Amino acid sequence: MRAFRGATHKDKLPRRSGRNEQSEAGLAFGKRSAPDNQQGRCCRRRRAGKVVRENAADPKCGIGGRQTISGRHRKTLRFAYHRANMPTITINGKKCDFTPGQTILQVANANGVNIPQYCYHDGLSIVASCRICLGEIWSPDAKTGQLAAQMGGKLQPTCQTPATDGAVVYTDSPKSVANQKAVMEYLLINHPLDCPVCDQAGECFLQDYSYEFGRGVSRFEEQKVKQPKKDLGPHVYLYSDRCIMCTRCVRFTREVTGTAELSVQGRGNKEEIDLFPGIALENELASNVIDLCPVGALLDKDFLFAQRVWFLKNTPSIDGITASGDNINIEHNEGKIYRIKPRDNMAINKWWITDEVRYGWKFVHSEKRLRTPLRRQFDTLVESDYTRAYDVAINGIKKAMDGSKRLALLVSPMLSCEDAYLLARLARLIDPKAILGVGPVPRKGEDKVYPLGAKAGDKNAFVISAEKAPNARGVRRVLGAMSAGVLEFGDFLKALGQGSGRSDVGAVIVTGNYPSDWITPEFESSLSGKFTVLIDTLLTSLVNSCDVLIPGATWAEKAGTFENWQNVLQAFEQAIPVIELAKNEGQIALDLEAEFNRVPLEVRDLETVIVNTTVGQVAAGVTIAPPRARAFNAADTRSEMVKRYPALAVFGDVRSPVPSTATRTDMQIVEL
Ligand code: SF4
Ligand code: FES
Repeated sequence: MRAFRGATHKDKLPRRSGRNEQSEAGLAFGKRSAPDNQQGRCCRRRRAGKVVRENAADPKCGIGGRQTISGRHRKTLRFAYHRANMPTITINGKKCDFTPGQTILQVANANGVNIPQYCYHDGLSIVASCRICLGEIWSPDAKTGQLAAQMGGKLQPTCQTPATDGAVVYTDSPKSVANQKAVMEYLLINHPLDCPVCDQAGECFLQDYSYEFGRGVSRFEEQKVKQPKKDLGPHVYLYSDRCIMCTRCVRFTREVTGTAELSVQGRGNKEEIDLFPGIALENELASNVIDLCPVGALLDKDFLFAQRVWFLKNTPSIDGITASGDNINIEHNEGKIYRIKPRDNMAINKWWITDEVRYGWKFVHSEKRLRTPLRRQFDTLVESDYTRAYDVAINGIKKAMDGSKRLALLVSPMLSCEDAYLLARLARLIDPKAILGVGPVPRKGEDKVYPLGAKAGDKNAFVISAEKAPNARGVRRVLGAMSAGVLEFGDFLKALGQGSGRSDVGAVIVTGNYPSDWITPEFESSLSGKFTVLIDTLLTSLVNSCDVLIPGATWAEKAGTFENWQNVLQAFEQAIPVIELAKNEGQIALDLEAEFNRVPLEVRDLETVIVNTTVGQVAAGVTIAPPRARAFNAADTRSEMVKRYPALAVFGDVRSPVPSTATRTDMQIVEL
């Protein structure tokens, strides 16, 4: 089965993804261990809150005699001292440091030791029910110091057994391997062999473990128990006969959402997952059970039979429709998004995302997307090429300002910080006194906290922000650094005169990029009589009344930075090519700036742009490149922001998200 697996297969699975972060930490430990250990040994005493180093002979110290150390060096030493005193455990021959309280399986996961596991998940309680992680555990006898088999040599669940200093664990011993084969055979007794039509194929733990730990043949000759398919709610199907009863889904609805819609019904081979009578699985986090299910029992209705997972490419991104800043992976193929999955971030969204974020990307491929520039000619909007559209836009703005009027720029909270910066820079170039405003920030009800009854500050709380724009804070931060008086939308409308005609604004650049129609009659009437350049993604009533329209790009089609409701700045990458002739807003700002400065746009031949190709996967979609000025680059823009505005120095710390590591198949690929 592994031969069919996509290159990023394992990285799509939420259960192990926590392991990546931990194993990175583990690697860091490994790299520093030798010198740090030696430094640690020389640091013996603490005095008045300061570390005093007394071993002048130690060349690793680099400090002669007895000296007082503070700051960064002191931190390193504390780490080194701590590191030197960490307990260790040996798992399958690999010596691993651990923090007291960690279970053996957690230590193994953090150190890249492969132990099979179904029911364990970092974000759920430990039930140790699947029994595939069992291992032989030997620990030092308190009196003799000799290793002795725990529990008389019985296998124990590594997911539930705490790691102890000096213990030695084997999950690759003959006894453990025999157990793994027995568990696999047991689980496959009633599991249908429908991998070719199962959506989970290619990212199924039963497939993987069958290959890695199974016995290869089945001795079962009786009839398999047949169980029904169930419609659990708006997004989830349950194929009961594929379920291995790990109870992850049940624990999720009890521990993470507190809604408890799911439970285990029946006993023995008639056991099945079912809904509490009369209640559907429709809480706002419900679809996380799809990611949690290690086999193909819980399936996403939206993704059902849509694409084989090994064709999907994976781009790390940030939620682009709410203020939550949830870390996500956009999974796409040939320029089309197929699904969005959570990306672990313990400080933001932990392992989960809301259904709103998971399914909120549909507008990216909407038929209402604006795909080509338009300009007004004889009071009618006509399609235009970019050169003409930019020319009409800049000349129209200059004429409308006419020496006495001002330019106003409305920056949407759906845009990235980099877009906001370049647009504001353009506005300041055209009119140094330009009015800068933040677009309307949609809200839906109040913030919600899961599990039900929890408070926002609770350790396990998952907060759903009521604010439905990804970057209101980021846009305010950028515009605020560039101008003293940034207007909120209400004040911006007042500056436009609110349709009264009493305003010193002659031209307006409006940006939208909302996932639905956002134009209000009040805003439309405020723009009347002013030269309006609209940069937007979806067809709205304003398209008919603007003077120039330039089609923008959704967040999935560009790179940038968002600041979430907790004021955390997070960068995201471009996942798919921009639709047809649309451009990202940062590029549009650069182009208009070049037009204003009379720098000719670069006219390029048609070219193929391939985005995010990964080894062993199908290349992404192709697109046609329209003429443009200097190419937009999010990282370069952030560097410029840091250099030019001290208030934006914080962008110097923003790092691009690390893409998932590709997993290469360990079976030969046969060229057809
Ligand atoms: S449906 Fe999936 S997650 Fe739920 S118990 Fe069965 S195998 Fe586990
Ligand atoms: S993972 Fe340990 S018993 Fe299931």
